[in-house]
Amino acid sequence: MTTQANPSPVTADIAANRPRIRIFDTTLRDGEQSPGASLNLHEKLEIARSLEQLGVDVIEAGFPITSPGDFEAVAAIASEITRATVAGLARCTEKDVRRAGEAVQRAAHGRIHVFCATSKIHREFKLKKAKDEIIRLTVESVKLARSYVQDVEFSPEDASRTELDFLAEVVSAAIEAGATTINCPDTVGYALPAEYQAMFEYLMQHVPGASRVIFSAHCHNDLGLAVANSLAAVAGGARQVECTINGIGERAGNAALEEIVMAIRTRQADFPYETGINTRKLVPCSRMVSSLTGLQVQRNKAIVGENAFAHEAGIHQDGILKERSTYEIMSPSDVGLIQNRLVLGKHSGRHAFRQRLEELDLKLDEPALDVAFERFKVLCDKKKEIYDEDLEALVEEQLETSAPLFRLKNLQVMASNQGVATATVTLMDSSDAAITDAATGDGPIDAMFAVIQRITRISARLESYQVRSITGGREAQGEVMVELTHNGRKVRGRGFSTDILEASAKAYLAAINRIRTMAKRTITQGSSLEQ
Ligand code: KIV
Ligand code: ZN
Repeated sequence: MTTQANPSPVTADIAANRPRIRIFDTTLRDGEQSPGASLNLHEKLEIARSLEQLGVDVIEAGFPITSPGDFEAVAAIASEITRATVAGLARCTEKDVRRAGEAVQRAAHGRIHVFCATSKIHREFKLKKAKDEIIRLTVESVKLARSYVQDVEFSPEDASRTELDFLAEVVSAAIEAGATTINCPDTVGYALPAEYQAMFEYLMQHVPGASRVIFSAHCHNDLGLAVANSLAAVAGGARQVECTINGIGERAGNAALEEIVMAIRTRQADFPYETGINTRKLVPCSRMVSSLTGLQVQRNKAIVGENAFAHEAGIHQDGILKERSTYEIMSPSDVGLIQNRLVLGKHSGRHAFRQRLEELDLKLDEPALDVAFERFKVLCDKKKEIYDEDLEALVEEQLETSAPLFRLKNLQVMASNQGVATATVTLMDSSDAAITDAATGDGPIDAMFAVIQRITRISARLESYQVRSITGGREAQGEVMVELTHNGRKVRGRGFSTDILEASAKAYLAAINRIRTMAKRTITQGSSLEQ
């Protein structure tokens, strides 16, 4: 067991009392708890790198006790990320805290985030523990966490439904035991802004030592109030906000990072704080997370939705042409929406290709760039003009399918509107052996999915199948998104191609590969998540 020598920037900031709101991103932990959003190690690392570029203060990389895969992801992110603090979540048990401590051990700035439910309903029905027992567990766990790292966050789960006097008691005990950040979650998204703000104000006044720690908000969106509640918490004194890219998360999701950051930036007179976020990276980061998790962003989503800056009504367009601020409160370029889409084609060289990727914030190392460039040339043979969306799709697909268990080699489909369809598919397995098989089905897609199930020996139920064109025109690339259910878990996959059947096979295979990867990540023995 080691104690970290270098204090995290967050701990250092406490003393400096800077007018800054810390952005704690939990896309990789709470966000990844969205049904069907599970990510592999490679994808988590990509997102963590992108979050660091975005400028978040803390990356909650996972919940190490839950599975060897989660442990490995937190440890890998902790080893690589140097500027942001990397946090691992733990319940108030010795095993959890030690596992989180081991996972963040190599971080330049590591944090252990311990939580214990405090509300009456959780105490009585979930934990079956009395108040003094909750305090004892909190104190022991925070102290144990402090023996690993100097930066310890404590969350009284379901804080917003906890009796205020008991909440103040637990929080005081956590501070006394060494917690440096106190996060008070609205776990079930029940709070209203005024009462959530009042909770923070109460704690600031009634908790001894409150001025020594950073208070933090963590809001769920069950009533659509997560962002409003997070801002109310800031008005009440919170100086850290926990959020996720695109607002992904359990049930209705968490507070959306991009919305909180842009609200603070746009309403400086009301929120005179800075965040460390480079807002021009919001759209690229949103697209990456959407692509890797398979969770699409709704068109009218604030800040990063496709329509967020689109003006359709004539009266609005007229106003915008005369003076942008008539109908626009933010500039699209401030959030990284690139409006001039440079077109590449088959005569574009490697240099122009690389430069455009860099402008789009798509960073690849040299070997990966070589592969991407090859794939770009293949795409140019199928499509005259390549748009930014095509480049994003190309790189994202490469990230998603790097080191896949099965790859699509060949596909032949025979279909007619009179009877059954037949698909013959050749897949390459991880040892580069080709496996060919054929199957029939009600239609070409059904036949293709049936043969993929036969070859991979994974049978999953198809829940949804969506196709869309990612750019305009007859040559456009299609994007197919499938959602499968396997052993009660939802899994998504996405595929791109100028040929819809090929895109469908790739999407299905991406989901099957995900199922195979998840099967390897078995839950650690004895780590049932019912605390
Ligand atoms: O919503 C919640 O209460 C949480 C805690 C673990 C912080 O995610
Ligand atoms: Zn949460």
